[in-house]
Amino acid sequence: MSVSETSAQAAERDRVVIFDTTMRDGEQSPGASMSLEEKLELAKILEEMKVDVIEAGFPIASNGDFEAVHEISKIVRDSTVAGLCRAHQMDIERCAEALKPAKRGRIHIVIATSALHMQHKLQMEPTEVLDAIARTVGYARNLRDDIEWSAEDATRSDRDFLRRAIETAIKAGATTINLPDTVGYTYPSEYADLFREMIETVDGADKVVFSTHCHNDLGLAVANSLAGVQGGARQVECAINGLGERAGNAALEEIVMALRVRGDRLPYDTGLDTTQITRASRYVSAITGFPVQFNKAIVGKNAFAHESGIHQDGMLKNRETYEIMRPEDVGQAPSSLVMGKHSGRHAFREKLKELGYELGQNALNEAFQRFKDLADKKKHVFDDDIVALVDNALASSADRIQVKHLRVIAGTEGPQEAFLTVTIDGAEKSANATGDGPVDAVFNAIHAVAPHEAMLRLFQVHAVTEGTDAQAQVSVRLEEEGRIATGQAADTDTLTASAKAYVNALNNLMARKEKSAPGGKLASGF
Ligand code: KIV
Ligand code: ZN
Repeated sequence: MSVSETSAQAAERDRVVIFDTTMRDGEQSPGASMSLEEKLELAKILEEMKVDVIEAGFPIASNGDFEAVHEISKIVRDSTVAGLCRAHQMDIERCAEALKPAKRGRIHIVIATSALHMQHKLQMEPTEVLDAIARTVGYARNLRDDIEWSAEDATRSDRDFLRRAIETAIKAGATTINLPDTVGYTYPSEYADLFREMIETVDGADKVVFSTHCHNDLGLAVANSLAGVQGGARQVECAINGLGERAGNAALEEIVMALRVRGDRLPYDTGLDTTQITRASRYVSAITGFPVQFNKAIVGKNAFAHESGIHQDGMLKNRETYEIMRPEDVGQAPSSLVMGKHSGRHAFREKLKELGYELGQNALNEAFQRFKDLADKKKHVFDDDIVALVDNALASSADRIQVKHLRVIAGTEGPQEAFLTVTIDGAEKSANATGDGPVDAVFNAIHAVAPHEAMLRLFQVHAVTEGTDAQAQVSVRLEEEGRIATGQAADTDTLTASAKAYVNALNNLMARKEKSAPGGKLASGF
C-alpha cells in the first residue's frame, strides 16, 4: 500500500471479481444443456455463494437463452447478471431487453482480434473490426453502464493490434476488458506477460478491470488464470466443475481455493463463501449428467480421502501433515453416518440444513417420507444418500410422467422382460416389453407407455456410497431434433433408478419442447 492509498483502495486493488460462466460457456459443452428451472436454481446457489457476476446466457441465440437471462435478472439482487452478444446491434438490443429487470446488469460483447479469426471466420479487415468495436461498445454503453468487451482469441492476436482494439473499446465506454485464451493455447508466463504489457501500455487501462477467460485444452486453464491475476487481471471467468467448450473452462472451485489457500503468494481476495462449493458442484453435475471425476481437485469424491496407512497415521497426529485445506472449507462434511429408520423429522430437518437445503413444509414432508423408505431398505444412510434423495425429489416433483411400479425379469436366460406402470398427468398406464438385457427391457416398456422419438445419448450409473446396498445414481440424456435433456434418479434398485432417470429426462424434454423457439439455438460461432 502506498503512503497516499487508503485501506479501502488497497482492498479494492487486491479484490478479484469472480465471473461465473457455467450457464453460458458451460452450457456450450455438447450435452450440458440446462432447463430454465435448473438455471434459476443454479443462479440462486451462485448468488448465495457470493459470485460477483453470473453470465446467464447468450440472449440472441435462442428464446430459451433470452428467457434464462430475463428470469434470472428478476430474481438475482446482489450479483451482477451478464448476457453475451456478438458485436451486432441486434444482439445488443436483445441482450439489453433480457437484462431489463436486472438490478445490476452487464452487456458482454465479443469479437475476435486474431488475424486467423478476422480473416477466416469474420471475413473482416482489421479496420472494420475496430469500427465494429467502437460502434457496438458505444451503442451498448448508451443502454447500460456496465459493459464488458472480449477480444476473442486474444492470446493468438497480434499485440499491437490487440492494444489498438482495447483502446478503442475503452474509449467507447467498456468498463471490463476480457482477454480470452479461447483455444487453451497460452501458458502461464506468457499470459501474465500479456496482461502486464497491456495494462502498462494501453491508454485508459487504469479506468477498467482486466479479466481472464481460459480454456483447458492443454490442462492449463487454472494455472493460466492465476498467472493472469499475477499479471494484473482483477476478474477471473470460470465455471463450476470446469464445465465449458471442449476441455472446459478454468474451474471456479480451483481458482477460488488456490487464492484462499495460497494467500501468501496470491494475496487477492474473492469474498466467496467457499462452503457452498460442494453444493454447487453436485448440483451442476446432477443437472448436466456430467460426473465429477473421483480425483478432481476440491470437489472430487477422493479430494479429501486418505487411504494409505502412512497418511492416515499422519492425519491422526496432525491433520495439516496431509491436508492443505479442510473439507468443511468447501462445504464437504466428512461423510458421516446420519440417521436410521428411528430418526425423527426434526433431526432430518437439521441434517438438511447442515447439507445446505431449506425446504418448504410440503417438500420436507415428501423428502422425509422418502428418507424413511430408504432407511427401511438400507442399513446405513449417509449424507450423500440424503443429497441424492433430495436432489432427485426436487428434480422430478413437477414431472407429468411418474414411475409407479416396476418389475423386471433378468438373468442368464433371456429374453429379459419389464412390467411397468406409470401415471401420466395422474392417469395410470401399464405395459410390458422385452429387451436385450434388463435395462433395454425397461426402456422399451417406457416407449410402450409413452411413445417418443428421442434417442438415448447417455446412460450412466454410479454408486452414491459404498456397499452392496448403496443407492445407484443414474443419469440419462435424451436427444430429439437437436434438443437435449438430462434426467437423474437414485434408488437402491438400479433398474428402478434407471427407469426413473429415463422418465425424468423424458419429462424434461417434453417441457423443453413446449417452451423452445422454432429453429432452436444458434450455432455458437460468435
Ligand atoms: O472463449 C471465448 O473466447 C469466449 C468468449 C465469448 C469470452 O467464451
Ligand atoms: Zn470461452
